[in-house]
Amino acid sequence: MKVHEISICMGSSCFARGNKATLQKIKSYIEKHKLNDKVLFKGHRCFDKCGKGPNLMINDKMFHQVNTENVETILDQFFSIFRIY
Ligand code: FES
Repeated sequence: MKVHEISICMGSSCFARGNKATLQKIKSYIEKHKLNDKVLFKGHRCFDKCGKGPNLMINDKMFHQVNTENVETILDQFFSIFRIY
């Protein structure tokens, strides 16, 4: 059962400013930690928060200025709260 949802903004602003690369990082993270059956990972249209982007949404919490450097920490913190791995 997929219990968590990760939505990455694929709007043109976030995409051009780094979410293209961040998307790959998240995919690898999900595979590495075998979260495939627990996480629904999908792209999202513009969240209308372009100025704060690149944006990432995990369940109902939005993260701003996400990049390939900090995304792993964000995911680690989120999933450790739920003790998924
Ligand atoms: S393009 Fe990402 S919030 Fe608008």
